[in-house]
Amino acid sequence: MKICVIGAGHVGLVTSACFAQLGHSVINVDNDKIRIRNLMKGSMPFFEPGLERLVKENRKNGRLGFSASVVDGVKKCGLIFICVGTPPREDGEADLSSVEKVVRKIARSLSGYKTIVEKSTVPVNTWKWIKHTVGLYSGQGADFDVAVNPEFLREGSAVRDFLKPDRIVIGVENERARKIILEAYRKIKCPKIITNLPTAEMIKHASNSFLATKISYINSVANLCEKVGADVQSVAQGMGYDPRIGKAFLSAGAGYGGFCFPKDLAAFIYIAEKNGYDFAILKAVQKVNEEQKRAVARKVKEALWVLKDKVIGVLGLSFKPDTDDMRLAPSIDIIKALQSDGARIKAFDPAAMANAKKLLRGVRFCKNAYSAAEGCDCVLVLTEWDEFRDLDLGKLKRLMKIPVIIDGRNIFKPEQMKKLGFVYKGIGR
Ligand SMILES: NC(=O)c1ccc[n+]([C@@H]2O[C@H](COP(=O)([O-])OP(=O)(O)OC[C@H]3O[C@@H](n4cnc5c(N)ncnc54)[C@H](O)[C@@H]3O)[C@@H](O)[C@H]2O)c1
Repeated sequence: MKICVIGAGHVGLVTSACFAQLGHSVINVDNDKIRIRNLMKGSMPFFEPGLERLVKENRKNGRLGFSASVVDGVKKCGLIFICVGTPPREDGEADLSSVEKVVRKIARSLSGYKTIVEKSTVPVNTWKWIKHTVGLYSGQGADFDVAVNPEFLREGSAVRDFLKPDRIVIGVENERARKIILEAYRKIKCPKIITNLPTAEMIKHASNSFLATKISYINSVANLCEKVGADVQSVAQGMGYDPRIGKAFLSAGAGYGGFCFPKDLAAFIYIAEKNGYDFAILKAVQKVNEEQKRAVARKVKEALWVLKDKVIGVLGLSFKPDTDDMRLAPSIDIIKALQSDGARIKAFDPAAMANAKKLLRGVRFCKNAYSAAEGCDCVLVLTEWDEFRDLDLGKLKRLMKIPVIIDGRNIFKPEQMKKLGFVYKGIGR
C-alpha cells in the first residue's frame, strides 16, 4: 500500500518506519524542513530505542521517503495518517490548529479516492470537523473517507508497541475504509476493535485518563502508607495479583508527566465540561498529581531543613526512562520548586540533557551520575533509568558531601540503603 504519514514526531516517525517495515511504501511528511532534511541525511530528531535502525533499513530498501510537502505525499498515496501535535491550551482545550491546517492541505491535494485517518489524539467528534473541512475545501464530489485510528504507543518502547500492540482500534463509517485500514495492519496479529468514529476517539481518551487515574490512586495510597508505616510497594504487589486490578501502573513516584497524560486528561475534562458533565474524578487525579510533585520537593526540604545554598544532585530528568522527551516532565516543576528555595541544582540524565537545557535555567548539567552526586547535600532520583539501579552506591556515598538520598521513583531498597549508611527516603515506605 502507498501510505502518507503527516507529522514526523514521536508518533508519525514511528508509524512511518513501522508501516515501511511491514512492507508498505511510506512517505513521511513534516512542515519542519530542518527535521526533514536531517532525516534524509539519516539524523534522528529524538531518541527512541530501535527506531534509528528501522528508519535506516527502510530508507535503504526504498520503502521510506521523507518530504516537506503535504501535497506531494497526498498525491502519491491513497491512505493518509494525520499524526501532527495537539498541544494543550491554557484552559486544557486541545489546540487543533495543526490538524486543521493539514486537513485543508489534504483537501486541496485530493485527486481520486483517499482514506484520511485521524491518528493524533483529539477531542471526541473531531472526525466530524475533518470530514466537513475536507468536503468544504476540496470542492463538490471529492471521493474520500475519514477514519479514526488512535495510537497507544509509549515513548521508550514505541517501535515494539506499534508492531506488537495489545489492540488496534479502528473507527470507520463504511466497509471501504474498514477494509483499507485492516489491510494496512494485516501483518500485525492482535485484537482489532472496529467501531464507529466517536467511540474510537473515546477509547483513547478513556484509556489514557484511566492510566493517569491509576498513578494518582497509588500515589495517594503511598501518601497514606507513609503516615501509617506501611510499604506501598508491597501494597501494590498485593493488589496487582488480582487480575481485576493488574500489576501495571501501580508504581508510586514523583507523578506522571510527558506529552500525553497531562494534556489528554485536561482535554477530557474540558470535553466533559463542554458537554455539561463534571468529570470530578479526573479533576482529583490532576490535583493529586500536582500535589505529588510538591510532596517530592518537600521531602528534600524535610531532609535538609534549609535549602538555601544546599547542592542537590538530580538523577533523571526525562518524564520516563528510555526517552529524551522533557515535555511536562515532573522534574521541571520539582527542580524549579527547589531552586525557588535557594537550592543549587546539578543534574544528569542519560538522554534528555539537550532538551532539558532548553527548559531549565541555572542547572549544572553533569557528564554522569557520579559527577552529579559529587559534593551534594542530597541526591534526588526523578527518573527510573536502569543505569541508576546499577550505580556503585559506595562510590556515590563517598562522593557526596552528606549521604542523603530522596528516591522519587523507589528504585533502591530502603534496608540496603540504611545498611550502606544513607539517610534514605522513598515514596510511600
Ligand atoms: N508521544 C506519544 O507518546 C503519543 C502517543 C500516542 C498518541 N500521541 C498523540 O499523537 C499526536 C502527535 O504526538 P507526537 O508526540 O508525535 O508529537 P510531536 O510534537 O513529537 O510531533 C508532531 C510533528 O508534527 C509536525 N507538524 C506540526 N504541524 C504540521 C503541519 N502543519 N504539517 C506537517 N507537519 C506538522 C511537527 O513539526 C512535529 O514534527 C498528538 O496528538 C499526541 O497526543 C502521542
